[in-house]
Amino acid sequence: MNIVVGVTGGIAAYKTVHLVRLLVKAGHEVTVIPTEDALRFVGAPTWESISRNAVTTSVHDDVAKVRHVALGQAADLVIVAPATANTIAKMTAGLADDLLGTTLLATTAPVAIAPAMHTEMWRHPATQANIHTLRERGVNVFGPGDGELTGGDSGPGRMLEPEEIVDAALALLDPQDLAGLRVVVSAGGTREPIDPVRFLGNRSSGRQGVALAAEAAARGADVDLVAANITADVLAEARHPRIRVHAVGTAAQLGHVMTDAAAPADVVIMAAAVADYRPAEPSDQKLTKEAGTLSSIDLVENDDIVAGLAAARPPGQIIVAFAAETLPDADERRERARRKRERKGVDLLAVNLADAEHGFEKADNAVEVIGEGGVVVVAADGSKRRVARAIWDAVQKTRT
Ligand code: CTP
Repeated sequence: MNIVVGVTGGIAAYKTVHLVRLLVKAGHEVTVIPTEDALRFVGAPTWESISRNAVTTSVHDDVAKVRHVALGQAADLVIVAPATANTIAKMTAGLADDLLGTTLLATTAPVAIAPAMHTEMWRHPATQANIHTLRERGVNVFGPGDGELTGGDSGPGRMLEPEEIVDAALALLDPQDLAGLRVVVSAGGTREPIDPVRFLGNRSSGRQGVALAAEAAARGADVDLVAANITADVLAEARHPRIRVHAVGTAAQLGHVMTDAAAPADVVIMAAAVADYRPAEPSDQKLTKEAGTLSSIDLVENDDIVAGLAAARPPGQIIVAFAAETLPDADERRERARRKRERKGVDLLAVNLADAEHGFEKADNAVEVIGEGGVVVVAADGSKRRVARAIWDAVQKTRT
């Protein structure tokens, strides 16, 4: 993605160095356009080394390439951070007396600004009127936050943190192709109690399911995330106004919540790792070696939740199951996945290789999504978010 970052003359410019770094690290092509004033806070060499692109403030450099028009036209997104009261006023008036001003007029990409100024300047009717006008024109205004300002003051006027600005700005580029859909995603791994201190569990962290929920919400869906034993730091990625989290522990609890949540859903994704068996009679006292009660555990089979959902599904509902397989041979893995898809009666089955580099507890994943007739609808590898994107693309292909 081509992203232009405009930097204007405020002390918060030092934080924008980190913002640019985050964008570059995420693989974006970033061009920084500081104003003359901004360079008094952070110099051009810093911007050039961090963005790996040339930096200029003037429309008179590189005239042959018509840089001010070219940058604006090539941009997929423009972020102005910090946006001072002066720059906000100039944007409102449509002034183009430097490279940033001309770029902002030449672009048709989404524009986001992160205001930073003293509270009095932010509250001034002139600034408020300008912000109102910019919002009406479709400019996205992120913040300002409330907090400590330079000079020891405190109040609204603080630039948001770079991470918040980056997340909100990149979300502007997400397609809203799942808007209006109700989806349910199960994630994590069930724990079947043996006694008060032990359980039968598995190594699923819940990361792939959480990424599926986050991706769906970002693309406009309304999401129920049924979370089996997921840690708070993993769940943090699912913080979104359109995601409701339901915490569960055992396969039986997961089954109940899924059955309720799935009834009105358009899409159900069963990414949780469910125990196939549970201890027949969990003990309410700790089992001990001394009493000789620990050496064997009787098991009973759990219901197959996804197969049950598939058998009782409302018309038009799409169901996706997962299978983590350890078979190293890709053809054999695919064959097993085809059989599993048929057996479960689901539309799509995402099969992933669980080995030392991929799958459980790892940041990366690699999946093939098997659809109607056993065909591979999509294949994806990389971050779990990337894989989530591909799985939702496969769902979309199946829906149409
Ligand atoms: N699943 C389920 N209920 C169970 C077991 C599994 O809903 N009791 C779901 C999982 O969430 C996953 C899919 O079924 O989406 C495949 O799980 P997997 O454990 O690979 O399948 P099994 O039926 O257990 O097959 P096998 O043990 O032969 O690999």
